[in-house]
Amino acid sequence: MINIINIAILGFGNIGSGVADVLKRNMALVNSAVGDEIYIKYVLDKRDLSQTPYADRAVHDFETILSDDSVSIVCEMLGGTQPAYDYSMAALKAGKSVITSNKEVVARFGINLVKAASENGVYYLYEASVGGAIPIVRTMKGALIGTEINRIDGILNGTTNYILTRMHDCSLSFDDALSEARRLGYAETNPTADISGADSCRKICILAAVAWGAMVPSELVHCEGITDITTEDEEFARSCGGVLKLVATAKKVNEVISLCVTPCVVLSGNPIASASEAFNAVKIDAGDMGNIMLYGMGAGKYPTASAIISDMIYAAGMRDKHHSERGWYDLSKVAEYADIRYAWCVLAQTSSDEIASVLPKACFLSRSDDECTFICEDISLKELKEKMSEMTVKKLIRALV
Ligand code: HSE
Repeated sequence: MINIINIAILGFGNIGSGVADVLKRNMALVNSAVGDEIYIKYVLDKRDLSQTPYADRAVHDFETILSDDSVSIVCEMLGGTQPAYDYSMAALKAGKSVITSNKEVVARFGINLVKAASENGVYYLYEASVGGAIPIVRTMKGALIGTEINRIDGILNGTTNYILTRMHDCSLSFDDALSEARRLGYAETNPTADISGADSCRKICILAAVAWGAMVPSELVHCEGITDITTEDEEFARSCGGVLKLVATAKKVNEVISLCVTPCVVLSGNPIASASEAFNAVKIDAGDMGNIMLYGMGAGKYPTASAIISDMIYAAGMRDKHHSERGWYDLSKVAEYADIRYAWCVLAQTSSDEIASVLPKACFLSRSDDECTFICEDISLKELKEKMSEMTVKKLIRALV
């Protein structure tokens, strides 16, 4: 029998509306994973939602949600500590699981909320509060649960990483790069939390709590942001063979836990150096397992919303069933390799003009009068060969771009 699992969305801003969109888009996948049917019963927001598809489910009073026993999951995406904390606590005490992207609440009150969840037999889940789409919390609570964690280093703020990348790669000014980050939905409503390092600081505190159970108040953590970084700092980083990043670190040495957030020269051999723009990267020194790095979109509407949905599926009970397998089946017919669109690296004995005339999106790596090397993305081998049938292709290798 299929049951309806009613959920409530608190906050219909960037992330809240993203959750509704992703749920709609992935409904079949989500319901199949849960084994029941997820339904958004309420959307709580101060704003008028009459022009949204959720007008009929809009509420302005949290009591309506709290007193409705049919709502079992509350997704809190309000931002700020209040009323987010009070609502979350009340929901947990009323036997509803709470899922959040609100790092401020988790970092400050997580200890109370996790306890309340456990006392009431429900979940308080916060994957979306750290690292955007990266499943860092679940990985630490799951695959890494049996190993000692010695150290965590991470780029945990998409906005500052975006700003540093754009300033470095495109010579954008700080203010222009920040404006872009805001426009792309990466920055906080008040971006001071991003650029001061406070947002990274809250996130590393959350990761330390997941790793060691120790909830360090963020006020106690040495925290520097990116506002004082100079061009000389960047040049210095480059001269050292590295790149300047805002890095949050948590270490446990001889039972002493230490945390910090500072600009850092990340040497090019360190995988964290590869995280650019709004990507986050978290490297964990996981005892006998060695080093593990997780990398992905650390900010933005849909990456963060997807992490909320992943927690929602977990809270809805997937782990108690056998739905974590996507339902294996025999697939005896697959698409022909030559028909599938990939990217390709090509060395052709012809001019770049001729290539451009048949492959307008080709990106040239080198060219001379009678030879050129280029990358062509999103095209099947068959189509590429057809387009180049009159030309001499000296090399053709599939590429990852
Ligand atoms: N402002 C945050 C960031 C959003 O840029 O990383 C995701 O927590």
